Amino acid sequence: MRRQGKHYRSDASGSRLLQALPASAKALLAQVCGWAMAVLLLSLGVVPAKIWAIVAAQALIAALSAFVLKSERWWIAIHLAFSPLIVAALRLDIAPGWYLVGFLMLVAVYWTSFRTRVPLYLSNRETVNAVAALIPSAPPMRILDIGCGTGSLVVRLARLRPDCTLTGIEAAPLPYLISRLRAIGCPNLRIVRGDFFDRPWKEYDLVYAFLSPVPMTAVWDKARADLVPGSLLVSNSFPIQEVDASGVIEVGEKRGTQLFVYRVDK
Ligand SMILES: C[S@@+](CC[C@H](N)C(=O)[O-])C[C@H]1O[C@@H](n2cnc3c(N)ncnc32)[C@H](O)[C@@H]1O
Repeated sequence: MRRQGKHYRSDASGSRLLQALPASAKALLAQVCGWAMAVLLLSLGVVPAKIWAIVAAQALIAALSAFVLKSERWWIAIHLAFSPLIVAALRLDIAPGWYLVGFLMLVAVYWTSFRTRVPLYLSNRETVNAVAALIPSAPPMRILDIGCGTGSLVVRLARLRPDCTLTGIEAAPLPYLISRLRAIGCPNLRIVRGDFFDRPWKEYDLVYAFLSPVPMTAVWDKARADLVPGSLLVSNSFPIQEVDASGVIEVGEKRGTQLFVYRVDK
């Protein structure tokens, strides 16, 4: 009986260990499971020796594996589409150089997204107006956009408020280059390349973040360490877990954007 109990415990901790794997390792594991099972089913004659039947079996098993591994739900759709798209692309006979170009473009746009878990999406015009409404008419504010992407927020805000000084920090090369180009003609806007966690925020009155749920606790810790009391941290869409916002602004556009405003008071 005792041995059985031990088995149960090690099974449970084994599955917990698998579920705690990073998203990229889970994705790889799901794909490997998909191919291994598809080949096994093919050799047993369960799946007919036809390319689309094999690929369909692989995709379904990979998606099921991702579900069992408790991957985020969008991984299920990615696994369902991954191998069918590869086979379809191979049949189109596209020159291999185009895959390299596509890969390099994705690297230039997403850069360290696999580590930071923050993809690129952009603040819309209504959100920029809502942030602008948070800025008092005087005195001029110093504003920082951590992860400024292609400059959607900082460029518009710099034009709306020429009296304020703005800085955007961006890690990914292509969005950085685009925001540098868009900043030409905005003397009150500076775009810096790098990791925003590696730079001091102490000179800013308002820090804007449009990131993902993953870094928000670390962002709050840095805001409290760096910013002077009274400064604001504004997070587009992603609240900070277990911290009460001083205010929540409904932007009121189609997307239903919410801005979570946190006042740093140490
Ligand atoms: C969702 S986009 C937001 C872009 C922009 N702030 C806006 O509102 O339109 C987030 C950006 O943050 C960048 N990013 C994520 N983590 C970063 C980090 N630690 N340092 C610098 N940039 C980062 C990503 O490369 C991405 O371009």
